[in-house]
Amino acid sequence: MSAPGKFITLEGVDGAGKSTHLDFVADWLRRQGREVVVTREPGGTPLGETLRELLLHQAMDPDTELLLMFAARQQHLAELILPTLARGAWVVSDRFTDASYAYQCGGRGIAAERIAALEAWVQRGFSPDLTLLFDVPPEVAGARRAAARTADRFEREADSFFSRVRNAYLERAQAEPVRIRVLDARQSIAALQAEIGPLLQALA
Ligand code: TYD
Repeated sequence: MSAPGKFITLEGVDGAGKSTHLDFVADWLRRQGREVVVTREPGGTPLGETLRELLLHQAMDPDTELLLMFAARQQHLAELILPTLARGAWVVSDRFTDASYAYQCGGRGIAAERIAALEAWVQRGFSPDLTLLFDVPPEVAGARRAAARTADRFEREADSFFSRVRNAYLERAQAEPVRIRVLDARQSIAALQAEIGPLLQALA
């Protein structure tokens, strides 16, 4: 039996540019000889991807949104994340539960206790080994969102929504500074990757 794999998540407001770094993280780990599975939330399983379509495009009550995020997460954990880690592969996910605290609590205003209750139910103490938080000031993320071709239900939110989301992310990083590493995403891609490499090295 090999040692269980590690779970790495990437977070940030829409427009922070985190998706650019997903492949870099996976390729870096593969070069170290790791088997890596790249996934995303909401999504990552056939059911989760169906829920993602609804979450991104269908108007709904904020509590429904939160519950569907965690329904997708439960399926993701049961079907993909936990079995993959158990067989020794590493999992890199574009977003996870920190996004629920940032968007549904910070952005939508749902009480953090509700999210914590769902987190305890679905994750039973499980959490990422490392979270990279791509942080940019609201105006930078706003300009990047405006340049994007199509906008989903979240990306159409007001700048004030994204300021709350960003602040909620930063508060979480302050509370868990070892797991959540804040990266200044205004830097060049090369400068960011020079910061990310040592963080991955420290996990290996
Ligand atoms: P993302 O994949 O980053 O969007 P894109 O495909 O445009 O890069 O994330 C989809 C959206 O889902 C994003 O706006 C944030 C939102 N989201 C939440 O609101 N709560 C959550 O728990 C998760 C995982 C995502």
